Amino acid sequence: MSHDGLNRRAFLRNAGMTALAGAVGSGTSFAGPLAVAGAGLAAANGTFDFDTPYNRFGTDSTKYDQQIRVFGKDSVQVGMGIADMDFKVAPAITKALMERIQHENWGYLDMGGTLGKSMNEHIVSWNKKRYGITVNPESVVMTTGVHPGIVATLRAFCPIGSKVLLNTPTYNGFYGDLTATKTVAEEVPMRLVNGRYSIDFDEFERHISGDTNAYILCNPQNPTGNTWSQEDLLKLGEICLKHRVVVLADEIHCDFVQKGQKYTAFATLPDKAIVNNSITFKAASKSFGLAAMKCAWFFSTNPSFMERIKPYNRADLTTLGIVSSHAAYTGGEDWLNQCVEYIDGNHDFVDQYVAANIPMIKCVKPQGTYLQWLDVSAIADKIGAKDMAAEANKKAESSAGGRGRGAGVTPETMVERYLVRHAKVHLNQGASYGLGGQNHMRMNIATSRKTLEVALNNLANALKNPSPDRTLLNE
Ligand SMILES: Cc1ncc(COP(=O)(O)O)c(C=O)c1O
Repeated sequence: MSHDGLNRRAFLRNAGMTALAGAVGSGTSFAGPLAVAGAGLAAANGTFDFDTPYNRFGTDSTKYDQQIRVFGKDSVQVGMGIADMDFKVAPAITKALMERIQHENWGYLDMGGTLGKSMNEHIVSWNKKRYGITVNPESVVMTTGVHPGIVATLRAFCPIGSKVLLNTPTYNGFYGDLTATKTVAEEVPMRLVNGRYSIDFDEFERHISGDTNAYILCNPQNPTGNTWSQEDLLKLGEICLKHRVVVLADEIHCDFVQKGQKYTAFATLPDKAIVNNSITFKAASKSFGLAAMKCAWFFSTNPSFMERIKPYNRADLTTLGIVSSHAAYTGGEDWLNQCVEYIDGNHDFVDQYVAANIPMIKCVKPQGTYLQWLDVSAIADKIGAKDMAAEANKKAESSAGGRGRGAGVTPETMVERYLVRHAKVHLNQGASYGLGGQNHMRMNIATSRKTLEVALNNLANALKNPSPDRTLLNE
């Protein structure tokens, strides 16, 4: 089918990336950061450039290249899946990394040395200044990502086979943490009214039983974008304390809060006993686009919790991971503030565009995160996603050993395939976010406005009159 010439190469040309187009053909190699270094620098007036699209094809990126690997050459023009950003990092980060690579030795890092100590101080001051959290520097434990921290904590508190509470739909990565710790998800579906999610606290409490030891709170919430109020958090905290359920507060998205909204850190709640029953997980990675640098931390006001977790946290960090997070906190704040504002503008843009041009999709501007949760039930209906998924699964079951490619296909997988095939846009399928994720897709909008516009135009064209496409069964 025709895409009005909007293939990847044309996109790059349209989006002003002609200079890099040579690097994005099939089997491409990365043009290299040095070839384009400098364009992310702040202009003389102190503003950073988030508008110029930055080509990530050919860099082994999950968001772009993995999708090409899965869906085929030229299949995806805009990757809007995994939660990272398309922008160049803050110039302070590139500068610090470039300085460090001048020393060409990569032996073991002394985490208790100058850099590690300074990082610890900056974690404490950053948390105080930006979120009002008083972090005891002694309590901060570094780790190689929020996942490894959560896994260590679950191992410390949750026997194999015990239950972990989740408000669903929730970040799909948590299910992997549960698999890694042989624990079981106790899903508490959130209430959905007019596109807004809320927690039914009675229902939440009813899901707690004798073998429920932990609750993973996500704030701001991935994928819905909810930010939880102090009142919400106190209620959740009270219930968990009453039932001796430990709260794991994953606040990795805390910097992305839309105008007029508020992020309340669990560690700032006015009830000491509730706070003492929690561990907070954070990183600079989501805020500054450093996901692959593998650096995060967790802390608690409860020293006995930390002592219990530490033996399970075997984390050797990379030098560049610490250098980049350190540079983010020492020299990246202006960049971050402008980035958050830009993302807020992107959310408004999406909101208005979808309302005006894509009646098949319903969405409500989220309170936080750079993720937009989309109701795609009308698309699923129109393309017969449910029947096609059932057919794909049946076919797989009847093939050798039931291990065919169609196994585990959800209607949302069909919507995902449909949007790749017809719009060249890749979104994450909602069913992977647990109960309540059905009929939804997650769209990551942390990209240049031009790229966002290309994606939305493609979606609008593809969704003018969607109809079943049986070739999707062969993917
Ligand atoms: C809520 C949440 N927690 C954790 C992670 C992953 O964190 P890390 O890469 O530090 O392991 C993500 C990434 O998308 C996330 O959205």
